[in-house]
Amino acid sequence: MCNVNNKELKVSAIKNGTVIDHIPAENLFKVISILGLENIPNQVTFGTNLESRKLGRKSIIKVADKFFEDAEINKISLVAPQAKLNIIRDYEVVEKRVVNVPDEVVGIVKCFNPKCITNHEPIVTHFAVQSKQPLELKCRYCEKVTTEKQMEIIK
Ligand code: CTP
Ligand code: ZN
Repeated sequence: MCNVNNKELKVSAIKNGTVIDHIPAENLFKVISILGLENIPNQVTFGTNLESRKLGRKSIIKVADKFFEDAEINKISLVAPQAKLNIIRDYEVVEKRVVNVPDEVVGIVKCFNPKCITNHEPIVTHFAVQSKQPLELKCRYCEKVTTEKQMEIIK
């Protein structure tokens, strides 16, 4: 069923693939970029500024014929910690998944320390996750901690 209880879908249902729901509206394009969705041949549809009781305004992304690995999808926890994944097969939701903050973050985030080598040389950033809530990332190169508030997404 794709249209139960007369609920109107704001973005068309998909036959097979992944629906990423409950993305904070302001982070939609960060999620698209982190997952590299601008470079894949799959059909991608999204809606933004949809009403959500939990988030106020949310975004949703639907990627046809794509099923993400945990390590790949967990990267979006940095900008969409409350995201819910719905795995769709033959129009039915067959699985729901949440995202988890990984123990290490490679790339994606800029080191907050202006003197860090990663801000001067073409070196991919690498952090150990020191705290998941609130997020604190410790740089492998300069050992400075980048907090959630200071976090800037690179890609
Ligand atoms: N969905 C879709 N295509 C389908 C089936 C579902 O795009 N063939 C989308 C729905 O629009 C919804 C999400 O997948 O955004 C989850 O579907 P469902 O579990 O049926 O909706 P809810 O019960 O509203 O989910 P939840 O409350 O867990 O967010
Ligand atoms: Zn650093």
